[in-house]
Amino acid sequence: MAKVRKAVLPVAGLGTRVLPATKVTPKEMLPVFDRPALQYVIDEARAAGIEHFVFVTGRNKSAIEDYFDQAFELEAMLERAGKTETLKELQTHVPVAGACSFVRQQSPLGLGHAVWCARDIIGDEPFAVLLPDMIMVSDPPCMAQLTAAHARTGGNLISVEQVPREDVSKYGVVDVGEFTDGQAPVRGLVEKPKVEDAPSNLVISGRYILEPEIFDLLERQQAGAGGEIQLTDAMATLIDTRPFHAVEFTGRTYDTGSKLGYLKAFMALALESESHGADAARLIRDAARDL
Ligand code: UTP
Repeated sequence: MAKVRKAVLPVAGLGTRVLPATKVTPKEMLPVFDRPALQYVIDEARAAGIEHFVFVTGRNKSAIEDYFDQAFELEAMLERAGKTETLKELQTHVPVAGACSFVRQQSPLGLGHAVWCARDIIGDEPFAVLLPDMIMVSDPPCMAQLTAAHARTGGNLISVEQVPREDVSKYGVVDVGEFTDGQAPVRGLVEKPKVEDAPSNLVISGRYILEPEIFDLLERQQAGAGGEIQLTDAMATLIDTRPFHAVEFTGRTYDTGSKLGYLKAFMALALESESHGADAARLIRDAARDL
């Protein structure tokens, strides 16, 4: 089975649900406790053995390129100041030279279109997609669960999780067969259905492994829900041609793409911090008591 070496990180969206915070700062760079949201997602991809990161960017996203570069002046200053621990941590966040590619999606036409923009860099091999506004916390990490499943079955894979029925219209919803060892064949996929039309309350949670055939389909894909070119619609046409599995994610998912989701992610990851968790809990309790 070909190893999954490359990941696409679509970061070209406008982040309108989090305005004005995202007017000049990319949504993916908003801090979630002590690091940008994107850092958690890159760490998850690296833990799954991903070696090359393809960022699909747009206007106002240059901070992302800078973040994954060396910061010579800052690093020299930290060295002079003897802040070696901080320096070491910063350096571990920078992928090795040549491990990041950046392609431009000139217009945010949808997630499917963003993934298609990465076609030349991905080439003819299976690849991962991680939505960077979804932070997923688990052991083993979500993408590692998917790559392990891919090594067993090959084909296309998505991570799925249950949400309350009334929330399904925000997501891509899956129709699946029986689960065996946390994995089930996918029978159908529909993007943002009405609650009454949804085949289940199992939704795609923002992690995918896809075969390169998807690019030809995306090239022809018409706009779907919300007037956008949807990845889910192109994936749906792959179901009958190749193995396609859903892997049930058991862990915690934080959607930083909405104001309250962002707040929850920030608080939860502060509470999980080894060094600051206990103090964060006290601060959060105090803040709530003062209201
Ligand atoms: P979202 O729909 O959550 O992001 O897309 P958005 O469009 O930025 O959000 P709102 O609705 O305006 O608040 C999921 C991911 O896909 C990327 C986004 O950057 C986000 O990480 N995306 C979406 C693109 O790269 N290009 C697009 O055309 C659409």
